[in-house]
Amino acid sequence: MSLLDAKDLTMRFGGLVSVANFNAAIEPGEIVGLIGPNGAGKSTVFNMVCGFYKPTQGRVFFDGKDITGMKPNNIVEMGLTRVFQNGRLFKKMNVIENMLVGRQRHFKASLLDSILRTPTYQQNEKLAYEKSINLLEKLDLINYIHEEAGKLPFGIQRKLEVARAMSTKPKMLLLDEPATGLNVEESNDMIHFITQLRDEFNITILLIEHSMRVVMSICPRIIVIDHGETIAEGNPDEIRENQKVFEAYLGVDDNVEN
Ligand SMILES: Nc1ncnc2c1ncn2[C@@H]1O[C@H](COP(=O)(O)OP(=O)(O)OP(=O)(O)O)[C@@H](O)[C@H]1O
Ligand SMILES: [Mg+2]
Repeated sequence: MSLLDAKDLTMRFGGLVSVANFNAAIEPGEIVGLIGPNGAGKSTVFNMVCGFYKPTQGRVFFDGKDITGMKPNNIVEMGLTRVFQNGRLFKKMNVIENMLVGRQRHFKASLLDSILRTPTYQQNEKLAYEKSINLLEKLDLINYIHEEAGKLPFGIQRKLEVARAMSTKPKMLLLDEPATGLNVEESNDMIHFITQLRDEFNITILLIEHSMRVVMSICPRIIVIDHGETIAEGNPDEIRENQKVFEAYLGVDDNVEN
């Protein structure tokens, strides 16, 4: 059974159709690319899948359950976590603090526990701290642990956002343009990082990315949307040679860099 199954997802805002009849069945362990020109509807697909928008039409199934209309937090608890297009780090907090914010849903202590700093609370806090350290070590970010997030190199900030999402223990990640604004070296690093998520953590990934180089090198399967419509689906070679894709990108020159 597919891990994520989006069926006929449609999103209308007033009279405007942002996404029409989007379909995708994603198997465990896959990295699937979702590409298309600016305003094509990519982020809207994510918003519908992870509960930020209630689709006008269609259904989303995750891990065998119908999650259409469920609250974003409950969807995260089921193992589907999204990383936003515009970074949402707490810039003034350091790396470990950002990680602990991400882990909050694993705190079992009550508010009263936290106010009184009961043993349950302290135990949970210690556990969360240890797990975050462990994750930072595995993701090769441990050297930055006490640095202020907003002052880190941009490539590291993007990785930290993904690391924080990883602390929700996802089965699947939705990554929205993780390589945007990165230089060649940083985006190579991101390619390695995303591949590592799949290979070492068994994470299934749906990836929105403008850099064709990044998408083509990590996604064996790519879905292309334009003006909300799915115009192509296939492997990198098929997508490269697809006439409709070529036309959709005509005049768009920001997709060849890095
Ligand atoms: N909340 C909303 N209200 C009205 N229109 C919206 C809303 N969210 C998205 N749209 C519209 O839907 C269309 C698709 O937007 P979306 O953000 O999904 O595009 P995108 O493919 O992610 O683009 P980009 O590559 O620039 O991030 C756009 O025309 C956008 O203005
Ligand atoms: Mg977007």
